[in-house]
Amino acid sequence: MSISADEFKKGMRRLAGAVNIVTTTDGSVKAGLTATAVTSLSAEPPRILVCVNRAGVTYETIIRGRTLGVSILSMQHKELAMQFAGMTNLSETDRFEKGAWMTDVTGAPLLKNALASFDCDVEDTMNVGSHCIVIGNIRAVHTSGDAEASPLCYADGTWTTLSPL
Ligand SMILES: Cc1cc2nc3c(=O)[nH]c(=O)nc-3n(C[C@H](O)[C@H](O)[C@H](O)COP(=O)(O)O)c2cc1C
Repeated sequence: MSISADEFKKGMRRLAGAVNIVTTTDGSVKAGLTATAVTSLSAEPPRILVCVNRAGVTYETIIRGRTLGVSILSMQHKELAMQFAGMTNLSETDRFEKGAWMTDVTGAPLLKNALASFDCDVEDTMNVGSHCIVIGNIRAVHTSGDAEASPLCYADGTWTTLSPL
């Protein structure tokens, strides 16, 4: 017996997630989206895992360009997170107009004041249902942002942050 998408979403709303912006470029086009499906995969060799919806521009650009940027957001980046989630009236091509961006090895955009950012080549992909598991081979890491800043999190449909117990 299979569960419905609504049942799946009802459960997953309880899974609190750190919010990231996942970016890419194919050399001419830049694309990016807000994502909580980001996981540390391996330290040796350094690998990161991201799940990206195959219906979007970001996925298409990742597949064409084989580049991946992951920027971990802090509380101050809530508006940017909404922008890259398509929650504002900004078009997909204008998403990079706000925020300070840089590039490193691969050319994928990295948020300058992110808590940390990872610049990756795409090592492997695997399609699962509507999404694609993208494995990034990390070529560079930046931790130049404000280390004291609290992470931006998303839980139960709400933007939130962490507080110590
Ligand atoms: C808190 C939050 C987390 C999200 N996490 C993901 C995710 O992990 N993967 C994904 O593909 N989309 C995720 N989304 C949805 C995308 O950000 C959104 O659909 C975006 O507009 C897709 O852009 P695209 O058309 O360039 O692919 C998330 C949205 C929000 C608000």
